[in-house]
Amino acid sequence: MRDVKLINIFEHHIAQKYLNRSGIAHAIAVAYHAFHLGKEHQLDTDTAAKAGLLHDMGHYTWYKNGKWDYDLYKQNDIHPIKGAERAHKLLIRLGENPIKAKTIALAILFHTDSFLPSNDIVRTPLQQIVKWADEKDEEKGGMHHYRSIDYDRAKQSIIRLDDLIDTELAKIAELE
Ligand SMILES: [Fe+2]
Repeated sequence: MRDVKLINIFEHHIAQKYLNRSGIAHAIAVAYHAFHLGKEHQLDTDTAAKAGLLHDMGHYTWYKNGKWDYDLYKQNDIHPIKGAERAHKLLIRLGENPIKAKTIALAILFHTDSFLPSNDIVRTPLQQIVKWADEKDEEKGGMHHYRSIDYDRAKQSIIRLDDLIDTELAKIAELE
């Protein structure tokens, strides 16, 4: 039913590299929040969950003398732009529907105001829920990026979320 599942994305080495950088536990939490918010707002839960999972994959490591430099990050960060591009490339490579890949990339691009000159952009409902999903999991001082989860537990969470999405999609297909 779906061209690409979360598990296909999760297991790809490119996703592993970048999701580990910004925190897999955070990525999974945001994917779950985006799924539930998507369901609540009658949006495509698969698109929402994928955008949630990949939203932070554009992060760069702003280290100076072996330590994270928050000022350097604030000044130079463009992670939503890089994330949108990386996610799009990965999704297309995995065989994702190109319209869906574009929708996910744009939701990643607009998931935060942090890099925008002003915070008055008008988001689509999907873009809005991905932003909310991220904010739901935020912890003070960026601590949400450092929560850890081992690979097997992370994988099980992803498989469970794939099942939830499939159940949702089957329900919708029945109604049509
Ligand atoms: Fe985030």
